[in-house]
Amino acid sequence: MSGARVVSPASAPLRGTLSVPGDKSIAHRSLILGSLAEGTLRVAGLPGGADVRSTRTCLEALGASIREDEGALLVEGGWTRRPRPSARVELDCGNSGTTMRLLMGVLAGCPGRFVLTGDASLSRRPMRRVAEPLASMGAAIELSGGEGAPVTIQGKAGLAACGVRLSVPSAQVKSALLLAALSAEGESAVEDPFRTRDHTERMLAWLGADLRLDGRTVRLRPGPLRSDRTLAIPGDLSSAAYFAAAAALVPGSEVSVTRVGLNPRRAGFLDVLRRMGARIAVAEDASSGGEPVGTVGISHSRLKAARVAAAEVPALVDEIPLLAVVASQAEGTSRLEGLGELRVKESDRLAATAAALRAMGAKAVVEGDTLSVSGPCRLRGAEIASLGDHRIAMSFGVAALVADGETRIPDAACAAVSYPGFFDDLEGLRG
Ligand code: S3P
Repeated sequence: MSGARVVSPASAPLRGTLSVPGDKSIAHRSLILGSLAEGTLRVAGLPGGADVRSTRTCLEALGASIREDEGALLVEGGWTRRPRPSARVELDCGNSGTTMRLLMGVLAGCPGRFVLTGDASLSRRPMRRVAEPLASMGAAIELSGGEGAPVTIQGKAGLAACGVRLSVPSAQVKSALLLAALSAEGESAVEDPFRTRDHTERMLAWLGADLRLDGRTVRLRPGPLRSDRTLAIPGDLSSAAYFAAAAALVPGSEVSVTRVGLNPRRAGFLDVLRRMGARIAVAEDASSGGEPVGTVGISHSRLKAARVAAAEVPALVDEIPLLAVVASQAEGTSRLEGLGELRVKESDRLAATAAALRAMGAKAVVEGDTLSVSGPCRLRGAEIASLGDHRIAMSFGVAALVADGETRIPDAACAAVSYPGFFDDLEGLRG
């Protein structure tokens, strides 16, 4: 993707109250589960990013009905019972790992032949982690080179229930299994020792699924989902995190983000920022679709280094590049541990983060799966190689605010994968 941005340093405090686009993870699930349910799900606040659009177009290619209605979307249930367009359906998942992995779970138990493709980045990402546990349920899935996309699925009814313990900390793998379990025979059990994000479980329960939490194991029996209701998707905490970080770093700043999702399994970034000494006020004042919602207010303060243990990473996995930027401005050496999963995101985010920090003059060292960042460091504006990865582009858009000189992000347009208006909203806080 092209579309460069040049971000200049903040010469004054950032101030303002804003809302951010709807949560991407919840949005994917609302389209998929809404299509599988009985009834019509009204979805308000669907984010406009490219990833969610990929899920929508794939579902539509499969014959699902999703239409606009006065600023919201109506997702009609029951698509699996409607005739599909052809014997073999090719589905382009674009850049979106969530689209591909969740649809693998749905389609494994759905009679038909499906081929899931993606862009160059998605085609490099590991899909065996999903295909293997699905195969234990009887799914027939072929991966290109045994590892990734294109993914060919020969879907069939009557999958066996699963009893799986996740071997990688991935909510996408867990969700794929739960989606397959919806059409399997008998009770499936998925143990998640890592406590990854639980949006699928929450939305399933909200739609009336026969689901039970048993310690760290999710138990699910197939049964109807009822969707005649409205889901107001809360703002994405992963998007709000950029403004929280910007406010924490730029002296004198005060920023609030309203109507944002506060799911504790997504809030690790705020927890770590607090430990670093950030001034953060969180007010939970609503719930939506089984998810807590509220306002996050943050103001500038001096920060000290933190250690992030591997067990904490799932709750802030998408915020690690941003946290590394924050760490470069904190007193001492921060150690972020257990970052292996970052190597298989939209880019090798561990290498990309360290390289971009070093390009700006920061001290960042990768040893195994640990990233150490020492601060505080006076960053200098640089050209950032974000490798088409939206989270790298946005994280270093924030770093640019506290750098000397301008920072150029050649492929800043890739922010549109999750947050099309990001750089404009960041500019808007300059007052
Ligand atoms: C997501 C899960 C995480 C996260 C991704 C969205 C989801 O990926 O990084 O942005 O919606 O389930 P993994 O499942 O690979 O950890």
